[in-house]
This record gives sequence, C-alpha cells and structure tokens, in this order.
Amino acid sequence: MTHAPAAPAGVGPIAQEAARRRTFAIISHPDAGKTTLTEKLLLYGGQLAEAGAVQARRSRRAAASDWMEIERNRGISVSSTVLRFEHGGVVFNLLDTPGHRDFSEDTLRVLAAADAAVMVLDAARGVEPQTLRLFEVARARGIPLLTFVNKYDRPGMEPLAMLDQIESVLAITPTAATWPVRIPGDYRGVVDRSTGAFHRFTRTAGGATEAPEEVLDAEQARAREGEAWEVAEEELDLLAAAGAAFDANAFATGACTPVFFGSAVSNFGVALLLEALERIAPSPRERPTTDGRPRRLDEPFSALTFKVQANMDPRHRDRVAFLRICSGRFERGMRVLNARTGRPFAMTHVHEVFGEERAVLEQAFPGDVVGVVNAGDLRVGDTLYVDEPLEFPPIPTLAPEHFVTVRNRDTARYKQFHRGIEQLGEEGVVHVLRRDPAADPNPVLAGVGPLQFDVAVDRLEREFGATVGLDPTPWKLARRTDAAGGEILRATNRGDVLFRPDGTPLALFTSQWLLDRFAQEHPEVALDRMLTR
Ligand code: G4P
Repeated sequence: MTHAPAAPAGVGPIAQEAARRRTFAIISHPDAGKTTLTEKLLLYGGQLAEAGAVQARRSRRAAASDWMEIERNRGISVSSTVLRFEHGGVVFNLLDTPGHRDFSEDTLRVLAAADAAVMVLDAARGVEPQTLRLFEVARARGIPLLTFVNKYDRPGMEPLAMLDQIESVLAITPTAATWPVRIPGDYRGVVDRSTGAFHRFTRTAGGATEAPEEVLDAEQARAREGEAWEVAEEELDLLAAAGAAFDANAFATGACTPVFFGSAVSNFGVALLLEALERIAPSPRERPTTDGRPRRLDEPFSALTFKVQANMDPRHRDRVAFLRICSGRFERGMRVLNARTGRPFAMTHVHEVFGEERAVLEQAFPGDVVGVVNAGDLRVGDTLYVDEPLEFPPIPTLAPEHFVTVRNRDTARYKQFHRGIEQLGEEGVVHVLRRDPAADPNPVLAGVGPLQFDVAVDRLEREFGATVGLDPTPWKLARRTDAAGGEILRATNRGDVLFRPDGTPLALFTSQWLLDRFAQEHPEVALDRMLTR
C-alpha cells in the first residue's frame, strides 16, 4: 500500500521532497526489543530479504572493531546508527538510540534530529525505569510519540492494564491504534481500529520473512477465533465507551500516543506500525532559530550537527559528524559556513549512512540525516548554512551525576592525553570540567553514568595511547550557574565550582541536601538542571 503523502499544491520541489521524509528515533528500555523491531521495520520496508542481517552484520563488525569491545562484553549498544530507506514513496531516516541509561545524553542528541519517536515497551514489563527517562527526554523535545507494545506472543499484561499504566506513569493519553486478539500465550493477530479489520498472522520459521497475513471482517473473525475474538470485541467496546479516540492535534503536541500491539520477533503488527509511520508521523517542519525567526524548509541549505562519532569504521579510525538537514537542498561539494567559527567548509566527503555502511551522497533534503567524514572542525550543536547567517538553538544535555578525576600516568604522552580528553569532550562522550578554565593537569570527567567513563578510558588508551587513572570525587550533583553564582557558592563552602571548556561554571554538590540548602539560602543564584551543547 502506498501512502506517499501528497505535497500541498503550489509548493516547490524542496518542500515536496521534505513532505515525503519521515525522520524518527526508536527508544526503549534495554531488551524491550528495539533492535529486533528496527530490523523488522527494515524487513517490511523492503530493505532485507531476510531478517537477521543487521544483527549478523553488527556482530561481524563488532568482532572486527576493537573499541566496540565494550559493547560486546557488556551486551549493550553504545553507538547509535542511522538507517535510511525508501518504502511506498516515503523516505525514512530511522535513528537508533542506545538503550542503556548511562548513554541517555546520546539519545537526547539523537532526538534533537528526529521529528517523531517510537517507544517500545515489553508486554510483560510495561513502562520500565529507562522507558520513563527516555520518555521524559522525548517529551522535553515535544515530538510526537508512537508506542509499540512488543512481545505479545508471550503472556504479558492485559492490554487494558497496559494502557492504564502508560497513562498513569507517563501522564500521556494512550489511544489504542490496534488491539490484540489472543488467548493467554497464543497471540493470533490484531484488530486495526481505524478499519475494524482483523489482521490474522501466521508465524514463519524464526520470523526471518514477513508473516503471512489474512485480513478478515468481524463475522469471519468470530467464526475463526471464537472466544479470543469475543474477548477482544468486549474490550474494544469498553475502549469505545471510554472515548479515547485518536486526536491528530494531541498527537502532534505529544499529549497523546497511538498504541500498537505486536511481536517484533514473529513480525506481528510490524506492517501496521510502518504504515502508521508513513501516514501519521510528521514530515519535517520549519525549525526555530536563536533569533526567533523559524527557518522555512525551502530557504537555502541549513543543517544541525547533532552527533559526532569516532571509529565508525575501525579500520580508518575516523570521525563522522552527523547532520540533520533543516532547510534547502544539500549537494555534494557545496561550500557552507559554520555559525560557531564563521569558517567555510566544503561538504565533499558526505555519506549516506546505512548502519555501519556508507555510500557517497550526491544530494539530500530536509529531514535527511547525513554523515560527514573526518570533519575535524564540526562539533555537536554546530549550525551549518549558506547565505544569511543563522543558528539553531543549542542541544540540551543532562546534568551530570557521576564525577571522576582523570590523571595522566605516562608523562611522555602528556600531549596525547590532553588531545584525547579534548576530543572526547567535543564528541560528548563525557563532560570535561576544570578547576582553572585555562589549564588543569587533572580534569574532571562528568557524566550521567559510569559506563561513559569506561568508554572514555578505553578510547584514551586505544586511540591516543595514553595511560590514565581515575580517582573518585565526592560530588554527586551539578547545576549550571553563572560567574556571580560561582563566586557566592565558593564563599559559602556549600559546594564547589568547576568550569566547562566554554567557560560556563558548574556548581557541584556532594548531596541533594547541600544543594537544597544552598538554593534556599541563595534564591538569587541560577542553578539550572539542563546544560546545553
Ligand atoms: P533491545 O535492542 O531493546 O535491547 O532488544 P532486542 O531487540 O535485542 O531484544 C531483546 C530480546 O528480546 C532478544 O532475546 C529478542 O529476541 C527478544 N525479543 C524481541 N522481540 C520479541 C518478541 O516480539 N517476542 C519475544 N518473545 N521476544 C522478543 P535474546 O534472548 O536476548 O536474544 P536472541 O538470542 O533471541 O537474539
């Protein structure tokens, strides 16, 4: 079925291209099934003859890559990837995010580039701690959210209870877009509530190929499924009476989420999710800039750098900057300006990225995500543009909760140590803080979780040949302040002040109690939880 959105009459070619883009991220608690669902969306998007390829490619690459050893050893995904594919006339940019809590900042950056997100829940576990955290990050961006309740092939929570939980824990209105037809442990298919049709699935071996699907009306469904159908019908009557119908405006503002029930591993319900992404997920819109005038899609080229990742290709030890195109047409070789440095930059080595594979890209449009290879000058948050200067607002980052002092243990490699620290800070692997903003031989690494430090140490040692030691610090919380606030805090002894590379002072506290105390004593001091990059 083709849902290629018709561009409004009278719009130019760039707006038309933008109208058929869908740029979205998938967020989930680890193990809820994000990787499996990604793979199945690719299968249904016609990108894979058989599922299993992404996983297999991942592990093959991981085996060849040394720094990804951390991912392999711990069974987590540190890096995130971009998958672009075209289906039914729609161009999807699917942005993968790491599930682990310690890498939530990475997710925040990815969401800065996305127009929508799919939240994956485990049918048995419902909303888990990391779901909540990532959801809050998505909500802060105000982007529409679709929910996929996965693993309905196994006994899970009652679907009505699942909706209640989403509503009470996340404070978002869930509206069931599909409804499962099952007896406990035997999941037969889903009702598409927009048509009333029952999609009955048949499993395939290992879920490697699309699940054969029959579409039945209510009479046929009752005859085939008996009690399972009757239970589903009763539940659907309850839902209809409760009145939570899909509301496009509430969806657009993130106030309501359509919920899809399925099983990624057995391919049940995946096609309906893909179809919904085509139909209801938003296409790129004009983007706010710091001077308050939004950048229209058909204005000259502009893009936001939302992620910088080293070692995408371990054989070359390279560094890829990911850009989200916000307006205009990208053409290979074009010269653009970096708003932060004012310097020109030739976009020659620009790639379309499919997971860890790349192809040279000739042109791209708003909503597309492209990788610029070895653009040493680009940092997270940089705006690139042609013609009139403009800047997109900085990307928020989370206030660090873990802090360690990093020491160089090999004086002969002092330079490498400092170059490495600087690069990791620029990439956003960790926050780098210094007591003296100009120089500090033992900077402090700060992050949302300790795994960030493992990645930093691993990379300092492997890539920069530095030998480092980490020492604990007493700090537990950080807030952004200003020069005056920093002076006051220093004078009170309630906390400490360290500086970010751009000179922003951070107020550090050893306990929530001391932070609260200081905030009460000095209500005039700015203490912001959100940082920016
Ligand atoms: P993640 O990226 O969110 O961390 O999750 P991932 O897709 O890796 O899935 C986590 C586990 O859940 C995997 O099992 C996967 O097979 C399983 N899973 C995913 N979707 C479904 C589903 O719809 N139903 C059921 N029953 N299981 C599902 P694993 O044992 O960790 O790995 P594997 O050996 O199966 O690959």
